[in-house]
Amino acid sequence: MNKVENITIQLKNKSSEEVLQFISQLPSESIVFSTSLGYEDQVITHMIFSENLPVSVFTLDTGRLFPETYSVLNSILDRYKKQIQVFYPSTNSLEEMVSKKGPFSFYESTDNRKECCFIRKVEPLKRALKGHTIWITGIRAGQSGNRNDMPMVEWDEANQIIKIHPLLNWSLQEVKDYIFKHNIPYNPLHDKGFVSIGCQPCTRAIKDGEDFRAGRWWWEDSSKKECGLHK
Ligand code: ADX
Ligand code: SF4
Repeated sequence: MNKVENITIQLKNKSSEEVLQFISQLPSESIVFSTSLGYEDQVITHMIFSENLPVSVFTLDTGRLFPETYSVLNSILDRYKKQIQVFYPSTNSLEEMVSKKGPFSFYESTDNRKECCFIRKVEPLKRALKGHTIWITGIRAGQSGNRNDMPMVEWDEANQIIKIHPLLNWSLQEVKDYIFKHNIPYNPLHDKGFVSIGCQPCTRAIKDGEDFRAGRWWWEDSSKKECGLHK
């Protein structure tokens, strides 16, 4: 049995809190959690920080986030007095792209959009994951068709790391209830129709009945709506 299968079996029937407790106690694993500071990630951050779990937490600052997102980061630092490591795009690549193509190249083609996501997110992610063996995310199955049949524990070939999604089976309502119950700071944009929040120029609010991810890269055809952080 390989490591992914072994961890999958051990996590069976565990609550999300128990999943986090269990994996953070695994000997010889180094655990890292990526937060976009959205609803789901705030739940996991609370679980990690309030229990003092030995998990490193990082966020990728693309340089194009909403002002509200930076305020959430500030509130979290104030509330828990813990460290969130911030990763930035490589200066050279960013300077070259924006100098050559301007600040809104991502609206011009999917290739340009993917180039921007690569420089601002995917490459910094690789640096953030380096040296760790387990990567925790806030992915929920309900977020998109692609994520519907994701396993809770998987092998990420691109980043050579085990990926675990403790909130995979939570509904959005359960996430909101947890946030309110524990009085966790959250992005006020969530109350204005922004369910999935990424970079400011590439995220819009959704209307009632629209797909969860309809507000991300809304000008693109829905089959392309992943930025490369998750395959
Ligand atoms: S994305 O691929 O479309 O951008 P999404 O916003 O759904 O991802 O978030 C899914 C998970 O990816 C989050 O729970 C978080 O673990 C990670 N993630 C997304 N954006 C960031 C970010 N800017 N910094 C750190 N982690 C992120
Ligand atoms: Fe660039 Fe938009 Fe991707 Fe952010 S979401 S990295 S601004 S293309």
